[in-house]
Amino acid sequence: MTRDPRFDILFEPIKIGPVVAKNRFYQVPHCNGMGYARPRAHAAMRGVKAEGGWAVVSTEEVEIHPSSDISPYIEGRLWDDRDIPALALMTDAVHKYGALAAIELVHAGMSASNLYSREVSIAPSPIANPASYAPAQARGMSKADIRSYRRWHRDAALRARRAGFNIIYVYAGHGLSLAMHFLQSRHNRRTDEYGGSLTNRTRLLRELIEEAKDAVGADCAVALRFAVDELRGPDGIAAESEGREVVEMLAELPDLWDVNVSDWPNDSKTSRFAPEGYQEDFVRFVKAVTTKPVVGVGRFTSPDTMVSQIRRGVLDMIGAARPSIADPFLPKKIESGDIDDIRECIGCNVCVTGDYTMTPIRCTQNPTMGEEWRKGWHPEAIPPRSGSDSFLIVGAGPSGLECARLLGRRGYTVHLAEASEELGGRVTRESRLPGLSAWARVRDYRLNQLNKLQNVEMLRGSRVTGSEILEFGATRVIIATGAHWRRDGIGRANSRPIRGFDAAHSVFTPDDLLDGMLVAGPVVVFDDDHYYLGAVLAEKLRQGGLDVALVTPADRVSAWTVNTLEQHAIQRRVSALGIEIYVSRNIVEFDGSGVLLECTYSERQTAVPARSVVTVTSRLPNDELARSLNESPAAIGAAGIVSITSIGDCFAPSTIAAAVYAGHRHAREFDWPATDEARA
Ligand SMILES: Cc1cc2nc3c(=O)[nH]c(=O)nc-3n(C[C@H](O)[C@H](O)[C@H](O)COP(=O)(O)O)c2cc1C
Ligand code: SF4
Repeated sequence: MTRDPRFDILFEPIKIGPVVAKNRFYQVPHCNGMGYARPRAHAAMRGVKAEGGWAVVSTEEVEIHPSSDISPYIEGRLWDDRDIPALALMTDAVHKYGALAAIELVHAGMSASNLYSREVSIAPSPIANPASYAPAQARGMSKADIRSYRRWHRDAALRARRAGFNIIYVYAGHGLSLAMHFLQSRHNRRTDEYGGSLTNRTRLLRELIEEAKDAVGADCAVALRFAVDELRGPDGIAAESEGREVVEMLAELPDLWDVNVSDWPNDSKTSRFAPEGYQEDFVRFVKAVTTKPVVGVGRFTSPDTMVSQIRRGVLDMIGAARPSIADPFLPKKIESGDIDDIRECIGCNVCVTGDYTMTPIRCTQNPTMGEEWRKGWHPEAIPPRSGSDSFLIVGAGPSGLECARLLGRRGYTVHLAEASEELGGRVTRESRLPGLSAWARVRDYRLNQLNKLQNVEMLRGSRVTGSEILEFGATRVIIATGAHWRRDGIGRANSRPIRGFDAAHSVFTPDDLLDGMLVAGPVVVFDDDHYYLGAVLAEKLRQGGLDVALVTPADRVSAWTVNTLEQHAIQRRVSALGIEIYVSRNIVEFDGSGVLLECTYSERQTAVPARSVVTVTSRLPNDELARSLNESPAAIGAAGIVSITSIGDCFAPSTIAAAVYAGHRHAREFDWPATDEARA
């Protein structure tokens, strides 16, 4: 296909100080759980982004000194010369495809744990780290400390140039850097020339930029990442006041402005809480204040929105973290006119969970993310088929769809049988819940791709039995029949059924609600799952006008969503909707008119009225079909079936990301090592 001329503007080169970006696609800094610990994996992942057409590919936060050690999180590291070779792996991988490599130099100040380096954390003024309950405080910096910090930063810029970087960041984004802490009046209580007035609080940031330019500015662009608004009103930096004033003061100093909002949960908002382009209102003033190129973010996946950002003078370059994770080839696809092949980010923040769990990044939409080096997976290049197998996949949820897509791309004949008329399984059903509509992209991308494949046949409304599978004629059978929610309350907090859940009372599962069953209020939602579903269902029921109470044995609502940066927003929304919240409470009994709660610390009991309970605890795999088939190996052999494999939730219930990954993995690896030989 050819590129739509409407998108030409996205492919115009742009000068950034002494370097030129070949187009307007800018992968902004994002961590990935690989960093200093897995430098080859990191380099391979960034290289794929460059190959996919991003003009600029950035690192994540890169610590510039042992006193900025943010262990146990795994970011980049440039403490001394010995860290240069690991980072040079990345610049080599990025340069190979004509992209510019950017590095985000960071001193985390009071946000640094220094758990590994055992240094004492530093801050503008003495303070406890507001983001952690660790029993240690940062000390206030002396003038000598400030001079040292400036020298570390300058040295890091010089090292970054030696590592091959073309753009060197000064970082005052989020609440996570010393330069930002100096700007924040709530953290900077100094009375010298680095504290007090905004001019004084900006002094250090100005010095860092000037000194970086002096050190490397002849060859490298010096970019400033600055959060123009902290979304905390007058207590913080706000776009209409201090945010704007900082940009005015430093307007022409950096070679590029990368502007966003702070803190991180506000910046990387999920689709449940913000639409594409949500940062525009905050950052649109910047271009009027500076002549330097401006980059901004906002989960941009639509080329029309990107063009509009540039044409309307909001941004010069389209910044992206998540859209580049979900589809590293997004720029190339726009360039070649293959718009409907874009794998759009769904805004779920599973990618962020890698950082919080200190493991390599993963993505719901792009199962190859994080596997570029270890497994040699590429998001677009897929090994051709290695034999003449034909496949029957039972179940068209996220796992079955991804498996069919990839096997189809590899050239195999695939039949995809789905019991219902509707494809997409849990993704389709859950995407109807409040705030989750973007999740349907998991289904839509795959269906769109499958529709282009002549060798894949989709059989809707086809509930297949074991004997039908044996007669079907496929050599390989894949079972992807999903899972269902338990009704008995068994989960993390209860290893035996909850009293009354097995009686004829109104106990509903998430599946019942997704099937459209009506619930009578008052209703208690019991969330022992701790991810998104419990709170989303509570929200749906409340929107339906019911009195709702949300009960969880955890100490907060949707506790695991700390890892997706959503926990605070979820609990705030639940609370704002007037849903009664009971944390650290288990349910001991339901008698049809109320539940008896018990505190998980004491044995104190509370009665809460409830005509219905929605129980969100754990799931059971829909594995009857797989089990019945595997009970008759002779019949399987006689039918010419080489393998029967369960994948995704019917193997072990997990996230949608895990289901997609399982489908992808099986399609790539079922014939391994033949696949590897084919690749070689
Ligand atoms: C997984 C992940 C890791 C991130 N790590 C960093 C980081 O190391 N430094 C940084 O300045 N921003 C980081 N961010 C924020 C992004 O750079 C970006 O500003 C934000 O995600 C909004 O852009 P997006 O909507 O294109 O994702 C991260 C975002 C994600 C999703
Ligand atoms: S994990 Fe979710 S939010 Fe992150 S890039 Fe992938 S689809 Fe987007």
